[in-house]
Amino acid sequence: IKLTIIDRDGVTHDVDAPTDMAMNLMEVIRSYELAPEGTIGICGGMAMCASCQCYVLSDHELPEMQDDEEAMLSEAFDVQENSRLGCQIQITPEMDGLKIELAPES
Ligand code: FES
Repeated sequence: IKLTIIDRDGVTHDVDAPTDMAMNLMEVIRSYELAPEGTIGICGGMAMCASCQCYVLSDHELPEMQDDEEAMLSEAFDVQENSRLGCQIQITPEMDGLKIELAPES
């Protein structure tokens, strides 16, 4: 599937993401090196750091937030209505065309 990702410098990237590798959004962002090593995915995808926070810009319906994601976002910086933790969003075919922006580094 195709994703559009705006990095922390405001640069837009159109990337391909596999749906058959059980990857999450944070891992896709890392695999394309859209954020410097050590500034994203710090907790390893455990919903414990918010370094993978993204703003969802398209109106895709994403899987509902679980309690740990909600709890982390309630403590994170720069949280908006459309904030999600990238590590909690598994890539699925329904996400084709998804557009997100990385939240500022915190
Ligand atoms: Fe830490 Fe997503 S990688 S919360």
